[in-house]
Amino acid sequence: MLEKLEQLGQEALTALNTISDTEALESWHSQYMGRKGALTGMLRRVGELPKEERPTFGKRANELKNELELAHQARQEKIKTLEMEKAFTAGAIDVTLPGRPVQHGRLHPISQTLRRIYQIWADMGFQVYRARDVETDEYNFQFLNFPPHHPAREMQDSFYVDGESIPNEESVVLRTHTSPGQIRAMREYCPEPIRVILPGMCYRAEQVTARSEMQFTQVEGLAVGPGIRMTDLKGTLTSFAQRMFGEGRPTRFRASYFPFTEPSAEMDVQCIICNGAGCQTCKYSGWLEILGCGMVHPIVLRNGGYDPEKFTGFAFGMGPERIAILKHGIEDIRTFWANDLRFLEQF
Ligand code: DAH
Repeated sequence: MLEKLEQLGQEALTALNTISDTEALESWHSQYMGRKGALTGMLRRVGELPKEERPTFGKRANELKNELELAHQARQEKIKTLEMEKAFTAGAIDVTLPGRPVQHGRLHPISQTLRRIYQIWADMGFQVYRARDVETDEYNFQFLNFPPHHPAREMQDSFYVDGESIPNEESVVLRTHTSPGQIRAMREYCPEPIRVILPGMCYRAEQVTARSEMQFTQVEGLAVGPGIRMTDLKGTLTSFAQRMFGEGRPTRFRASYFPFTEPSAEMDVQCIICNGAGCQTCKYSGWLEILGCGMVHPIVLRNGGYDPEKFTGFAFGMGPERIAILKHGIEDIRTFWANDLRFLEQF
């Protein structure tokens, strides 16, 4: 029996040393060491031996069991290392393959237009002033000379946050234009002179169509100082238009109405598509409207803290979407915020 035991031990060890994967190792373990394994079977047969041989056999069998368990453990470690090495070789990176191309992002067409606008105004000494998107009725309308029931409010269908049917000065509204920023800038800088542009998103409860969106950007401008005149407005805005649309591009001013300016005007540039001959884009007028402007109304100056006897100013407001539409011949304003890469990647 003892001899058989030694033989079994030898056989188990030899078998163990040929094993090179976890699966085979597991079946080796159950074959020899498991509950129904060969060594376990032998240990059970100790009772068949004469009494005096039992201790020697038992001792040796237990020793052998420990030896095999140790050998098994060592083999397990070895296999782990082998398998890891194999995985490394299989998954190795081939450094000679071409790399995956990096996807280049780009600026949104409106961001590009805004940057161009900032640049031109910066050259003329205007700095960017950021005002809030969420306003009160007082700033969005009343300080700008739109009294509560003024019909000019109807040009700007608003998103009222608190749903009041009759707006009062504390009603919260998403700004319908960037003009309330004029009041905020004036109140911050008064009594210093001002030259700022105020860019940002505006919101209107509009029927969304190819021509109007319920959110869009605007760039407001404001210059306040002693002795600023209508000729300053005309010269400054003409200079802006020439740089934005090309040197020598004809411009014109048309009388208009805004509650916060007096006199008020709209500025047109000669159609950049047909050069004034008349086309679909300019509705056969030869001109494209690009902004509203005017001399800051005395009431608005006073609401900003300035004495209208000593200070005057001009203001303007333009829509970068409209400018981008004209420059690139874009047909539908909704494409700007629809997040379609096929459109955005063209810029
Ligand atoms: N706030 C006007 C609008 O949204 C645009 C505008 C017109 C702004 C004339 C001005 C201005 O500052 O002087 O329609």
